[in-house]
Amino acid sequence: MSGKAMIESVNLTKKFGNFTAVDGVNFTVEQGEVFGFLGPNGAGKSTTIRMLTTLLMPTSGTASVAGYDIVKEPDRVRQNIGLVAEKVILYNRLTAMENLLFFGQLYGLDEKTIRERARKWLSLLHMLEWADTLVMKFSTGMKQRVNIARALLTEPNVLFLDEPTLGLDPQTRNLIRNFITDLKQHGVTVVLTTHDMLDAELLCDRVAVIDHGRIVAIDTVENLKKLIPHKENPNLEDVYLYLTGEEIRDRAFEKARPEGIIHG
Ligand SMILES: Nc1ncnc2c1ncn2[C@@H]1O[C@H](COP(=O)(O)OP(=O)(O)OP(=O)(O)O)[C@@H](O)[C@H]1O
Ligand SMILES: [Mg+2]
Repeated sequence: MSGKAMIESVNLTKKFGNFTAVDGVNFTVEQGEVFGFLGPNGAGKSTTIRMLTTLLMPTSGTASVAGYDIVKEPDRVRQNIGLVAEKVILYNRLTAMENLLFFGQLYGLDEKTIRERARKWLSLLHMLEWADTLVMKFSTGMKQRVNIARALLTEPNVLFLDEPTLGLDPQTRNLIRNFITDLKQHGVTVVLTTHDMLDAELLCDRVAVIDHGRIVAIDTVENLKKLIPHKENPNLEDVYLYLTGEEIRDRAFEKARPEGIIHG
């Protein structure tokens, strides 16, 4: 890699009381890369994204996004990013276009610009014909496509997507994957989290596997597969289970990481 770093995270850490949710995370994302976070429930993926998108202050460590410090220059960071969070944020009683007009105005855009951009993104997401339909009538996949259009209204340099394909049918997953690939081709840097191995395989230039708040491996999918000893043609899920183990994470962090719990 020789491109420009769009994200740089240095020892990024988040504690909730005595519990360390993100534990000294270091990584760099180059401009135009699609970078994925894979990891068990509770691993710290969303918390990392929330810090990088200025929704949550790190306990320690630093990060820059699009060249701006997430703590010192949060407004600048916000001007350069889009976020598709875990929960869809749309008003059911407004149409797709009315939602985009509402959010676009919150982002400080004028109506003409919003309408132009909304039509462009809705069209690329195959939702233009539903622009004037109430969101309450949409399927999960249709809502998510409007939600993605909302995140792109500011035409961000960096787009964060937290589980963008969760709960969607294979057709919509396919559409969203193709859409993300197109964004990449237009120079947008993309960071996503997913539990879908195919998302990672098909979309991500590099993947960070995170467990108990720490990055346990970070590389291309192809190189990650080489980490498994004595197994021919492992798939990404084999590698993932090799790296993170088979234990279910219900309260497993308490047993696994007593050093992370500080008393007193
Ligand atoms: N506001 C909070 N207060 C206390 N604990 C929190 C808070 N937010 C997250 N956590 C804890 O931090 C850990 C990491 O949570 P996070 O949401 O980042 O996980 P995740 O990797 O996104 O998991 P999932 O795959 O389930 O979305 C979890 O144990 C979670 O319970
Ligand atoms: Mg999450």
